[in-house]
Amino acid sequence: MAVLKVLEYGDPVLRKEAEKVHKVSAKIQKLISDMFDTMYDQQGVGLAAPQVGVLKRLFVLDCTTPEQNLPQMVMINPAIVKKSGAIRSKEGCLSFPGVWTEVKRYENIVVRYMDQKGKRQELAVDGGGLLSRAIQHELDHLNGVLFVDHALDETEANEQLGEHNLPPIDPTRIVEEPDLDHVLMGN
Ligand code: NI
Repeated sequence: MAVLKVLEYGDPVLRKEAEKVHKVSAKIQKLISDMFDTMYDQQGVGLAAPQVGVLKRLFVLDCTTPEQNLPQMVMINPAIVKKSGAIRSKEGCLSFPGVWTEVKRYENIVVRYMDQKGKRQELAVDGGGLLSRAIQHELDHLNGVLFVDHALDETEANEQLGEHNLPPIDPTRIVEEPDLDHVLMGN
Protein backbone atom coordinates (compact mmCIF):
# COMPACT_ATOMS: atom_id res chain seq x y z
CA MET A 1 0.00 0.00 0.00
CA ALA A 2 1.36 3.36 -0.99
CA VAL A 3 -0.45 6.63 -0.63
CA LEU A 4 1.00 9.17 -3.05
CA LYS A 5 1.14 12.93 -2.68
CA VAL A 6 -1.72 14.65 -4.54
CA LEU A 7 -0.70 17.88 -6.28
CA GLU A 8 -2.75 20.97 -5.44
CA TYR A 9 -4.27 23.50 -7.82
CA GLY A 10 -1.56 26.02 -8.65
CA ASP A 11 0.99 23.30 -9.38
CA PRO A 12 1.99 23.72 -13.06
CA VAL A 13 2.03 19.93 -13.62
CA LEU A 14 -1.79 19.92 -13.40
CA ARG A 15 -1.89 22.10 -16.53
CA LYS A 16 0.27 19.80 -18.67
CA GLU A 17 -0.94 17.36 -21.29
CA ALA A 18 -0.29 13.71 -20.38
CA GLU A 19 1.31 11.19 -22.73
CA LYS A 20 -0.22 8.04 -24.15
CA VAL A 21 0.49 4.75 -22.36
CA HIS A 22 2.05 2.30 -24.83
CA LYS A 23 2.23 -0.75 -22.60
CA VAL A 24 0.53 -1.71 -19.35
CA SER A 25 3.92 -2.50 -17.78
CA ALA A 26 4.62 -3.61 -14.21
CA LYS A 27 5.44 0.02 -13.46
CA ILE A 28 2.02 1.15 -14.73
CA GLN A 29 0.32 -1.65 -12.72
CA LYS A 30 2.11 -0.43 -9.58
CA LEU A 31 1.06 3.15 -10.36
CA ILE A 32 -2.59 2.03 -10.74
CA SER A 33 -2.48 0.19 -7.42
CA ASP A 34 -0.94 3.19 -5.65
CA MET A 35 -3.50 5.50 -7.26
CA PHE A 36 -6.36 3.40 -5.87
CA ASP A 37 -4.72 3.47 -2.42
CA THR A 38 -4.39 7.26 -2.67
CA MET A 39 -7.94 7.77 -3.94
CA TYR A 40 -9.49 5.68 -1.14
CA ASP A 41 -7.23 7.30 1.47
CA GLN A 42 -8.55 10.73 0.38
CA GLN A 43 -12.14 9.47 -0.01
CA GLY A 44 -12.24 10.40 -3.68
CA VAL A 45 -14.26 8.75 -6.44
CA GLY A 46 -11.65 9.29 -9.15
CA LEU A 47 -7.98 10.15 -9.52
CA ALA A 48 -5.96 10.90 -12.66
CA ALA A 49 -2.22 10.16 -13.00
CA PRO A 50 -1.20 13.84 -13.47
CA GLN A 51 -2.64 14.55 -10.00
CA VAL A 52 0.12 12.37 -8.52
CA GLY A 53 2.72 13.98 -10.79
CA VAL A 54 2.77 11.27 -13.49
CA LEU A 55 2.00 12.64 -16.97
CA LYS A 56 0.44 9.45 -18.35
CA ARG A 57 -3.03 9.11 -19.88
CA LEU A 58 -4.81 7.03 -17.27
CA PHE A 59 -7.20 7.41 -14.38
CA VAL A 60 -8.90 5.26 -11.75
CA LEU A 61 -12.52 5.42 -10.62
CA ASP A 62 -14.81 3.97 -8.00
CA CYS A 63 -18.23 5.54 -8.44
CA THR A 64 -20.15 3.18 -6.18
CA THR A 65 -22.96 4.96 -4.36
CA PRO A 66 -25.57 3.67 -1.88
CA GLU A 67 -27.95 3.49 -4.89
CA GLN A 68 -25.64 1.82 -7.38
CA ASN A 69 -22.88 -0.71 -7.00
CA LEU A 70 -20.14 -0.29 -9.60
CA PRO A 71 -16.80 -2.03 -10.04
CA GLN A 72 -13.44 -0.32 -9.72
CA MET A 73 -12.45 1.00 -13.12
CA VAL A 74 -9.16 1.87 -14.77
CA MET A 75 -9.27 3.83 -18.03
CA ILE A 76 -6.07 4.03 -20.06
CA ASN A 77 -5.77 6.31 -23.14
CA PRO A 78 -9.49 7.15 -22.89
CA ALA A 79 -11.40 9.13 -25.51
CA ILE A 80 -14.99 10.36 -25.44
CA VAL A 81 -16.32 9.47 -28.88
CA LYS A 82 -19.92 10.61 -28.43
CA LYS A 83 -21.56 13.16 -26.16
CA SER A 84 -25.02 14.69 -25.84
CA GLY A 85 -27.34 16.47 -23.44
CA ALA A 86 -26.24 18.83 -20.71
CA ILE A 87 -26.40 18.86 -16.92
CA ARG A 88 -25.26 20.92 -13.97
CA SER A 89 -22.95 19.03 -11.68
CA LYS A 90 -21.65 20.02 -8.26
CA GLU A 91 -18.07 18.79 -8.23
CA GLY A 92 -14.98 18.72 -6.12
CA CYS A 93 -11.48 17.45 -6.86
CA LEU A 94 -8.72 15.96 -4.69
CA SER A 95 -6.42 18.70 -6.05
CA PHE A 96 -8.83 21.36 -4.67
CA PRO A 97 -9.30 20.38 -1.00
CA GLY A 98 -12.63 21.63 0.34
CA VAL A 99 -13.81 23.31 -2.89
CA TRP A 100 -17.19 22.36 -4.37
CA THR A 101 -18.77 24.27 -7.21
CA GLU A 102 -21.27 23.75 -10.02
CA VAL A 103 -19.92 22.96 -13.47
CA LYS A 104 -21.35 22.14 -16.91
CA ARG A 105 -21.15 18.57 -18.16
CA TYR A 106 -22.57 16.39 -20.89
CA GLU A 107 -25.37 14.11 -19.78
CA ASN A 108 -24.62 11.11 -21.99
CA ILE A 109 -21.24 9.93 -23.18
CA VAL A 110 -19.59 7.02 -24.94
CA VAL A 111 -15.98 6.45 -23.89
CA ARG A 112 -13.37 4.19 -25.48
CA TYR A 113 -10.38 3.12 -23.45
CA MET A 114 -7.97 0.33 -22.65
CA ASP A 115 -8.48 -1.53 -19.39
CA GLN A 116 -5.84 -2.68 -16.89
CA LYS A 117 -5.36 -5.92 -18.85
CA GLY A 118 -4.64 -3.96 -22.04
CA LYS A 119 -8.04 -4.85 -23.54
CA ARG A 120 -9.98 -2.30 -25.60
CA GLN A 121 -13.32 -1.33 -24.10
CA GLU A 122 -16.25 0.87 -25.01
CA LEU A 123 -18.74 2.10 -22.45
CA ALA A 124 -21.92 4.12 -22.89
CA VAL A 125 -23.07 6.04 -19.82
CA ASP A 126 -26.44 7.79 -19.98
CA GLY A 127 -28.40 9.92 -17.55
CA GLY A 128 -25.70 12.23 -16.20
CA GLY A 129 -24.96 10.11 -13.13
CA LEU A 130 -21.79 10.16 -11.07
CA LEU A 131 -19.95 7.82 -13.44
CA SER A 132 -20.60 9.95 -16.52
CA ARG A 133 -19.50 13.11 -14.72
CA ALA A 134 -16.44 11.48 -13.15
CA ILE A 135 -15.22 10.18 -16.52
CA GLN A 136 -15.49 13.68 -18.01
CA HIS A 137 -13.75 15.21 -14.97
CA GLU A 138 -10.88 12.71 -14.93
CA LEU A 139 -10.38 12.73 -18.69
CA ASP A 140 -9.97 16.51 -18.53
CA HIS A 141 -7.06 16.08 -16.11
CA LEU A 142 -5.16 14.23 -18.88
CA ASN A 143 -5.40 17.38 -21.01
CA GLY A 144 -4.50 19.85 -18.27
CA VAL A 145 -8.13 20.95 -17.96
CA LEU A 146 -9.58 21.37 -14.44
CA PHE A 147 -13.20 21.34 -13.26
CA VAL A 148 -13.21 25.05 -12.41
CA ASP A 149 -12.58 25.73 -16.13
CA HIS A 150 -16.21 24.56 -16.62
CA ALA A 151 -17.67 26.69 -13.78
CA LEU A 152 -21.27 27.81 -14.19
CA ASP A 153 -20.72 30.82 -11.96
CA GLU A 154 -17.15 32.12 -12.00
CA THR A 155 -17.75 34.57 -9.16
CA GLU A 156 -19.06 31.85 -6.86
CA ALA A 157 -16.22 29.52 -7.85
CA ASN A 158 -13.65 32.23 -7.11
CA GLU A 159 -15.17 32.80 -3.67
CA GLN A 160 -14.82 29.07 -2.96
CA LEU A 161 -11.21 29.05 -4.19
CA GLY A 162 -10.33 32.10 -2.12
CA GLU A 163 -11.86 30.60 1.02
CA HIS A 164 -9.60 27.58 0.61
CA ASN A 165 -6.46 29.62 -0.17
CA LEU A 166 -6.30 28.43 -3.76
CA PRO A 167 -5.58 30.61 -6.82
CA PRO A 168 -8.55 32.11 -8.70
CA ILE A 169 -9.93 30.83 -12.00
CA ASP A 170 -7.65 31.54 -14.94
CA PRO A 171 -9.98 33.33 -17.39
CA THR A 172 -7.83 32.19 -20.33
CA ARG A 173 -8.58 28.56 -19.39
CA ILE A 174 -12.40 28.79 -19.36
CA VAL A 175 -13.78 26.16 -21.71
CA GLU A 176 -16.19 27.52 -24.34
CA GLU A 177 -19.19 25.19 -24.43
CA PRO A 178 -21.93 26.80 -26.51
CA ASP A 179 -23.77 23.47 -26.90
CA LEU A 180 -23.98 23.10 -23.09
CA ASP A 181 -24.83 26.80 -22.54
CA HIS A 182 -27.62 26.46 -25.06
CA VAL A 183 -29.32 23.78 -22.92
CA LEU A 184 -28.39 25.03 -19.44
CA MET A 185 -28.86 28.78 -19.87
CA GLY A 186 -31.35 28.73 -22.73
CA ASN A 187 -29.22 30.94 -24.96
NI1 NI B 1 -10.01 16.16 -10.21
